[in-house]
Amino acid sequence: MAEEKRIAAVTGAGQGLGRGVALRLADAGYRIALLDRQSCDETAKLLADKGVDSWQHVTDVSDESSVVTVFSAMENEFGVPSALVNAAGIFADHPVHETSVDTWDRIMAVNARGPFLMCREGSRRMKENGGGSIVNILSNAAVQGFANESAYCASKGAALLLTRTLAVELAGHNITVNGVGPGTSETAMGGDYLGEGPIAAHELSRTPLGRWGQPADIAEAVAFFCNQATWVTGQALYVDGGFLATGLPTLKGM
Ligand SMILES: NC(=O)c1ccc[n+]([C@@H]2O[C@H](COP(=O)([O-])OP(=O)(O)OC[C@H]3O[C@@H](n4cnc5c(N)ncnc54)[C@H](O)[C@@H]3O)[C@@H](O)[C@H]2O)c1
Repeated sequence: MAEEKRIAAVTGAGQGLGRGVALRLADAGYRIALLDRQSCDETAKLLADKGVDSWQHVTDVSDESSVVTVFSAMENEFGVPSALVNAAGIFADHPVHETSVDTWDRIMAVNARGPFLMCREGSRRMKENGGGSIVNILSNAAVQGFANESAYCASKGAALLLTRTLAVELAGHNITVNGVGPGTSETAMGGDYLGEGPIAAHELSRTPLGRWGQPADIAEAVAFFCNQATWVTGQALYVDGGFLATGLPTLKGM
């Protein structure tokens, strides 16, 4: 079946949301290219357990030569992806007066330059192959202010506008570009942020669905954009248990 031969390239696939996306897209019939700065052996094993073929390459998405190299290697050794999901990302939590230029540059390099480079090189191939779908993993921090997260929020806002702009620019090549904005989800990144403190309690009280996100929740929205969303581009879907919708939450005991 031609459907089963499609390739999805997923960055940040070594763990967390990227791994969840890789597993979900495998269920949708894709072979998966696993890209991360760390080994993706564990994800590859989970895919092999499902009988799904994968390929991996150590890649630093913030580095132009690394991104250019991985696309040539992928093309030669595995094939051209018709879906690209940019999930690699890093987080920093510092008051603005303690945010160094190094921190700012590093966050922007991974979270904004990374998707730019991946979209540029990925869409070059998709264009030659008749089209494809790109999904950038954003955050509700792309559209809300979170204290002490100036660099992170700015990087996700940049990725949101990159998403919209490329949707317009690449539509003529049959390439859709959409974003999925997770709310706080149970991964290494989410866990580091939340802990058990008052921020977690505050955030959960403003999450009507009353729990943290799981990789499978986020991956479902990604699969929609890759597979079913034939006439949707330039959109961002926030998968956040209702956090973004909340003005006044229902308070316990009221
Ligand atoms: N977990 C959350 O609560 C949450 C909420 C909103 C948005 N997000 C976003 O979702 C995405 C995935 O986050 P996660 O929770 O899975 O985090 P995570 O830290 O568990 O995983 C991130 C992955 O990205 C990889 N990575 C980091 N820098 C890289 C680089 N330069 N090149 C290649 N790979 C790199 C890491 O090695 C890791 O495997 C990120 O873009 C993050 O900003 C996460």
